[in-house]
Amino acid sequence: MTGTAAASTAAASTAAVPVQVRIGDVDVACGPGETVLLSALRAGWDLPYECASGGCGSCKAVLTGGEVRSLWPDAPGLSDRDRRKGDRVLACQSVPAEGCALRLPGTAGPQRAASGPGARPVPGRRPARIGAVLQLSADTVLVTVVPDRPVAYLAGQFVLLELPDGTRRAYSMSREPADAPAGDDRLELVVRRVPGGRASSWLAGATAGDPLVVEGPYGRAHVQSQADRPVVCVGGGSGLGPVLAVAERCLTEAPSRPVRLYYGARTDADVVLAARLRRLRSRGARVDVVTDVPPSAAAAGRLAPLAVRAGRVVDAVDADHPGPADLTGHDVYLAGPTPMVDALLASLVRTGRVGADRTFFDRFL
Ligand SMILES: Cc1cc2nc3c(=O)[nH]c(=O)nc-3n(C[C@H](O)[C@H](O)[C@H](O)COP(=O)(O)OP(=O)(O)OC[C@H]3O[C@@H](n4cnc5c(N)ncnc54)[C@H](O)[C@@H]3O)c2cc1C
Ligand code: FES
Repeated sequence: MTGTAAASTAAASTAAVPVQVRIGDVDVACGPGETVLLSALRAGWDLPYECASGGCGSCKAVLTGGEVRSLWPDAPGLSDRDRRKGDRVLACQSVPAEGCALRLPGTAGPQRAASGPGARPVPGRRPARIGAVLQLSADTVLVTVVPDRPVAYLAGQFVLLELPDGTRRAYSMSREPADAPAGDDRLELVVRRVPGGRASSWLAGATAGDPLVVEGPYGRAHVQSQADRPVVCVGGGSGLGPVLAVAERCLTEAPSRPVRLYYGARTDADVVLAARLRRLRSRGARVDVVTDVPPSAAAAGRLAPLAVRAGRVVDAVDADHPGPADLTGHDVYLAGPTPMVDALLASLVRTGRVGADRTFFDRFL
């Protein structure tokens, strides 16, 4: 039977045993309630994706047989045109029913994921609990999550947190994995509370022991272990978390590797993790804090010896690298609000100043 995403069924959601999904020429077993994306990645197949959250559309697939249930039927990753076609689905939002088949547009199917040292860890789902919530600024908290089994991840990756009410959102690990003492499997996440936001408000108000589910790790914007290339990291707001982990990891792997980190915040009062930024600087990295609002004299003293300047972080990166070849040979990591990441991609990648294959980014959609 050929069905559509719109014809999703409750049967798909209640399946208690793994169901077989055919993706191109590949058969994948999907665990109960698991998405096609998670199941394929876990089986060692590399599907195209970016946000794993329904926002970007990069995991779009064509449903050629069977039925799926969408976790987020209105996800913006599908356009109105996609919905009119009736057979377009998002692998990251699709929980399949038995006998479902998908095609990835433009490919025969998924590719085998790389294995061996530096390969992406395989994602999974685990029960977890909140360890602690630490206030970092007026609207930003450091959330510690304790999974029931360790989550191996690479600096720069993220997890999906599933709250008790079923809300699923992406949050990036802010700790460089090697910084965790042996036996300390906690995940540290920098979370900015969005006014009225379901997940960020719940996390900001959570208390130790509150249950949740961790799914992951996900993400391609992880540290690339090529120690000879200089690195530029740019994080906006809570996007500081993953790029700080990447910068720390780069210096752990190669202490003399040139690393420069830009951190965009709205005001100096919004600057978080200053102690870690200072430590990064003392390890040889260049750290630039850029605030939308000019910093106060008191803030300059409070954050010293970090360099703080006013403006847009995008303009600061441009001003510091005015020549067309100034960033040639660099690896660039970007994380934070979509407008910031898109502005940097337009200024650096579309102009050919940095190779698209050497730019790694997460838009906090
Ligand atoms: C790869 C990635 C990494 C991220 N890392 C961080 C981080 O480290 N720190 C941080 O503070 N934020 C991060 N975010 C943003 C975070 O995932 C949330 O969007 C943010 O916290 C606001 O969520 P909220 O529930 O509080 O707000 P809400 O306003 O309730 O929801 C915000 C977003 O959730 C999405 N959404 C809405 N409905 C649904 C649904 N039914 N199912 C799934 N998604 C839905 C929409 O994209 C919406 O913009 C990241 C986002 C992505 C994609
Ligand atoms: S990866 Fe599925 S919509 Fe972004």
